[in-house]
Amino acid sequence: MKKLDAFFAECTKIVDRELDALIPSGQTEPANLHQAIRWSVFAGGKRLRPALVFAVGQTFGAAKKDLGRAAAAIEMIHAYSLIHDDLPAMDDDDLRRGRATCHKKFDEATAILAGDALQTLAFQTIAEDANLSAETRVRLVSEIAQAAGTPSGMVAGQQLDFEAEGIKISIENLERIHQNKTGAMISVAARAGAIIAEADETEIATISKYAANLGLLFQITDDLLDATQTTEVLGKTAGKDARAEKATYVSLYGLIEARRLAENTYLAAGEELKKIKLETFLLDEIADFILRRKK
Ligand code: IPE
Ligand code: IPE
Ligand code: MG
Ligand code: MG
Ligand code: MG
Repeated sequence: MKKLDAFFAECTKIVDRELDALIPSGQTEPANLHQAIRWSVFAGGKRLRPALVFAVGQTFGAAKKDLGRAAAAIEMIHAYSLIHDDLPAMDDDDLRRGRATCHKKFDEATAILAGDALQTLAFQTIAEDANLSAETRVRLVSEIAQAAGTPSGMVAGQQLDFEAEGIKISIENLERIHQNKTGAMISVAARAGAIIAEADETEIATISKYAANLGLLFQITDDLLDATQTTEVLGKTAGKDARAEKATYVSLYGLIEARRLAENTYLAAGEELKKIKLETFLLDEIADFILRRKK
């Protein structure tokens, strides 16, 4: 675990340096927009998706310097998704990463535009990444757009998520929501690492299956934490899913069964890693971290 902590710390350092260089300063006009972006991006997120880009990339032999920009771009899209997820029209949250949400600190219009700007800056970052070949950049742009968008990416998942509020949905539909709203971006983070490392297509397919389980596991544990953890530890308001009558693993299965399903999903991720003939210690540790995380 110590090793994983050190790994996360190093990834965070690299990706934060990239983000700081890529995002306009808080003095650049329109200053409110750039301050809002920075408010949300530099608020101490776990940086899980960047860590996955690095962990998978390094597993398949990529150099760190070739992974940093893609990792920053994926974190930008993640930050945008959180800003929009918290808006009054969506989950209507006041607290994120231990501080006021973007629309509370600034205003709703600025928060919407901060999200929009982060999304476009993410694609610009990949398109202009001089460390990568033109072919790799085009593939990453395409894959990240699919994961962030629709019909089976984050935006589609967010639509399904709010449409499922207050109604009882099937297990299949719940899994689809979770795979889309959360799994897709986690999967593409892992795939991006493998693509940059020029892993072969069989290896990329195996990593995708590992990451699909990881993404589902991540949202199951998010649902569990919402129901069991405190607002102080989470840095976002606890107990909101039940109040909003969200379709979650906890609302559909109850705490004990949701926990068991999380463990099964963790094991399924590990089974995929056994097919990879390289040292996968880090990837195993990341799955373990997601299963046991406290926030
Ligand atoms: C929260 O993601 C939103 C979900 C997809 C469940 P994280 O838990 O990774 O949020 P940060 O980046 O650490 O704040
Ligand atoms: C959001 O899921 C997933 C995103 C695409 C942002 P949640 O709505 O459960 O995330 P939290 O709990 O607000 O972080
Ligand atoms: Mg939500
Ligand atoms: Mg939310
Ligand atoms: Mg949640």
